[in-house]
Amino acid sequence: MSKKIIVAIDGYSSCGKSTMAKAIAKSLGYSYIDTGAMYRAATLHMLNNQIPAANIEAVKSELQHLEIRFKFNPEKQVSETYLNGKNVESEIRTMRVAEQVSNYATIKEIRVAMVSQQQQMGKKKAVVLDGRDIGTVVFPEAELKIFMTASNAIRAQRRFAELKAKGEEITLQEVENNLAERDRIDSTREESPLKQAKDAKVLDNSHLNQTEQLEIALNWANEAINRQ
Ligand code: DC
Repeated sequence: MSKKIIVAIDGYSSCGKSTMAKAIAKSLGYSYIDTGAMYRAATLHMLNNQIPAANIEAVKSELQHLEIRFKFNPEKQVSETYLNGKNVESEIRTMRVAEQVSNYATIKEIRVAMVSQQQQMGKKKAVVLDGRDIGTVVFPEAELKIFMTASNAIRAQRRFAELKAKGEEITLQEVENNLAERDRIDSTREESPLKQAKDAKVLDNSHLNQTEQLEIALNWANEAINRQ
């Protein structure tokens, strides 16, 4: 039997990390952990309880009422996010959450709680995680680290098409502004900012289709597995 590894995928918002992570997980028969979904679910919980990100004490104490789980939906063949027992998979992808998530993701107490849950979920390996701090903080010893990038224009176009398809009333300019703001907050925050791990392999997918990207990533994954 081949050895199991951890695949850590980091990068800016809307680079196609989750599509890639899911495809790698499927090919290798690994689990996929969407860490962004966890920060989104935590944000949704705080918004629903009218707790602003600025009120750190209230955020801290509310964390004990927060339970985030992933459950596999056999009909759709995808894993979905549950917040305190409720399926929030669609709700966490709305602009209401997107506009606030980076602010809550800067809060140390939220990060500590999410990171420890992620480490627990990945400790037996055979997992693919995507996020901002996977290769640097969550699993710095991951056998394969991929840092994904794509041009700003292409990222905005992709996210715009996604949101439009879901029926959100939004302009391309609004999506561009949201991405730029999230990139700024994610990469300049004090707590585990988004940065490329020294040993990460960079994958710029501006001009690659999904099949081409997956082929590159799977080659890297198989090399890493064979090194074990
Ligand atoms: O990947 P995403 O767009 O679903 O992530 C949502 C937000 O969560 C993103 O703006 C930054 C934050 N995030 C984070 O800080 N650390 C992670 N590991 C994953 C996401």
